[in-house]
Amino acid sequence: MSVIELKDITMSYGPNRILEHFNLSVEQGTFLTMIGSSGCGKTTALKLMNGLLTPEQGTVCINGTDISHTDINELRRGIGYVIQEIGLFPHMTIEKNICYVPNLYKSPDKAAIAARARQLAKTVGLDAEMLKRYPSELSGGQRQRVGIARALMNSPKIILMDEPFGAVDEITRKRLQEEILRIHEELGGTIVFVTHDIKEALKLGSRVLVMDQGHIIQDGTPARLLEHPATDFVRRLVAG
Ligand SMILES: Nc1ncnc2c1ncn2[C@@H]1O[C@H](COP(=O)(O)OP(=O)(O)OP(=O)(O)O)[C@@H](O)[C@H]1O
Ligand SMILES: [Mg+2]
Repeated sequence: MSVIELKDITMSYGPNRILEHFNLSVEQGTFLTMIGSSGCGKTTALKLMNGLLTPEQGTVCINGTDISHTDINELRRGIGYVIQEIGLFPHMTIEKNICYVPNLYKSPDKAAIAARARQLAKTVGLDAEMLKRYPSELSGGQRQRVGIARALMNSPKIILMDEPFGAVDEITRKRLQEEILRIHEELGGTIVFVTHDIKEALKLGSRVLVMDQGHIIQDGTPARLLEHPATDFVRRLVAG
């Protein structure tokens, strides 16, 4: 079953058309990595998937339902989203930032939520002591890990990640890559992961999407991209 479907999407910002007749269907359980030149429309595609942007034309379906007919908060609770600019709330502690999504539920079980926050902090490699700090008191890479923990908080079946490992060091990045693969296996969910790093795209993705100027240049398994690059652009990309 397709859990994410962008059907014949056209999307512009003012006079600039970013996506035109764009189609993408992501099957349940896929780990889709998206790679492409800066400004080609990757973040725009992710934002369309969770209703942060509304397409000019076309439909977005999540779990088979047109999201223009669904409650947007309900939709977002089912989708973990790691935004490109991290987007933590500066006036909230790290713990509150991680727990932000379940608070939408107004859950009475504060202890369980705090325990989950501690567990996730550990998962992404943050010291428990940091939970009491504020975002301005962390490094950029640490803040990015908070964003990842928050997206995992309520074990969503769909996770959208926009260059989530951009600001972390090489060792942490490797650890987080292993961690996200493990989480994907464990949750059995669907992940859409944007990256600028072709090695990361090939390592994590069960399916890799190469985009250029709003178009999909190649869509296939890592092996397919390596063995049969569709264009010179892809050939140069996979050659590193
Ligand atoms: N709110 C906006 N208003 C006007 N133009 C925008 C807006 N958001 C994005 N754009 C433009 O739309 C194009 C696609 O943006 P998008 O953020 O989807 O690119 P991207 O593929 O994610 O790029 P990057 O790899 O740099 O993150 C870019 O040219 C960008 O400048
Ligand atoms: Mg982007």
